[in-house]
Amino acid sequence: MKTAVSRPKIVDKFQSFREGFPALKAKTYLSICEKTILHDVVRENVDSFLDHLANASTDRHGHEGKVNSAREKFAQLVNAHPSSIAAIRNVSDGVNSIAWALPIGEHNNIVVSADAEHPNNLYPWLRLKRRGSELRLVKPLPDGAIDVDAMIDAIDHDTKIVSCASVTFAPGHRTNIHKLGEACRARDVFLLVDGVQSAGVLAHDFSAEPIDGFATSTSKALLGLYGFGFLYVSQKWIDRLEPAYLSRPAALMQTDDHSAMGSLDYELQPDARRFEVGSYNLAGAYAADASLQLLLDLGADAVEQRALQVAQLLNESISSLGLPAAVPSDGTAQSHIVTFGEIDAGGHGFSTNPIIERMSDHLTEAKVAHTIRRGQLRFGVHVYNNEDDITQTAAAIRDAIGQN
Ligand SMILES: Cc1ncc(COP(=O)(O)O)c(C=O)c1O
Repeated sequence: MKTAVSRPKIVDKFQSFREGFPALKAKTYLSICEKTILHDVVRENVDSFLDHLANASTDRHGHEGKVNSAREKFAQLVNAHPSSIAAIRNVSDGVNSIAWALPIGEHNNIVVSADAEHPNNLYPWLRLKRRGSELRLVKPLPDGAIDVDAMIDAIDHDTKIVSCASVTFAPGHRTNIHKLGEACRARDVFLLVDGVQSAGVLAHDFSAEPIDGFATSTSKALLGLYGFGFLYVSQKWIDRLEPAYLSRPAALMQTDDHSAMGSLDYELQPDARRFEVGSYNLAGAYAADASLQLLLDLGADAVEQRALQVAQLLNESISSLGLPAAVPSDGTAQSHIVTFGEIDAGGHGFSTNPIIERMSDHLTEAKVAHTIRRGQLRFGVHVYNNEDDITQTAAAIRDAIGQN
């Protein structure tokens, strides 16, 4: 009885959230795995910052309050302490920060599943390889998922770090971070997670997940802007991490005055702030502060549950038309990303399979935002998507295959 009464209320909450996105009035947006869309409240918050700039009324300390507020809200979303979160630019910034802060020597190795990763979680490691460290590239499973067991097998006593995506950008499997993290913990290996595909849509609990570092931008499901993001670093590792770059925010200071010089015999911040470099992307902080509040109001677990429910519907609606999905429609590997077609039959924005190309054309014509990645037709669901979006999408696919 209780669920029957509360369920419509939850759906209403998602419906009113949906109404805040002007883009959704004109199109079906199933591409959060590519890029964010702006909610009115997020835009208003950024506008308020721009108004300050336009009126030359900048109060830098006041604006930086938004960085701290966004940091606190992200910490709340992932159940971490705010001091373990640094404000950064993007995934590349976070991954490179860790790559150069860890004491990785020539005798050490790094474990990555290169073929399953976005290039921005590979190039930082290629750079270290040039410096002399060994890079162990672990093959993904035939379906494109990260092979967690093979990653664990590749670890030995010289491994310093394992880096992997929480959800791959394509095909979109969710990685068993828990299993990988437990294995890393047991061997004192740093587990770094490229979390940009899951942050904001799938629930994280860093107090329970055995993660040492997590890098994300706010330019996807966190619904903020490009050029602003977060790096989580577990306190356990802080004393062993010496950032490659150093500027004022990373050093312990007696004053908030930005131009005041501290001691030449500086001390690093005792927490993740040692990874902050120079001035912040304040517009990004204003956006994130607002978008994180919206996500917190919806609740991380409710967001994940609803997004996975809609993703499942999308997966099953299109599979039932005879096109098997590349990622399971339930279970631990399911994510909000739903892909179709053979992996690597094509590349970024194109498929060698004419049926996928035809589907993509029909979807574009029907104003269904989607992408082709690694040759696969790719959709990304967020909590603003609903059953109507799936009906529209399935109708465009039926058109493409002549089933209408
Ligand atoms: C898994 C993954 N990592 C990283 C990125 C982008 O990295 P950055 O935030 O450094 O631009 C993307 C973008 O599509 C991605 O899907």
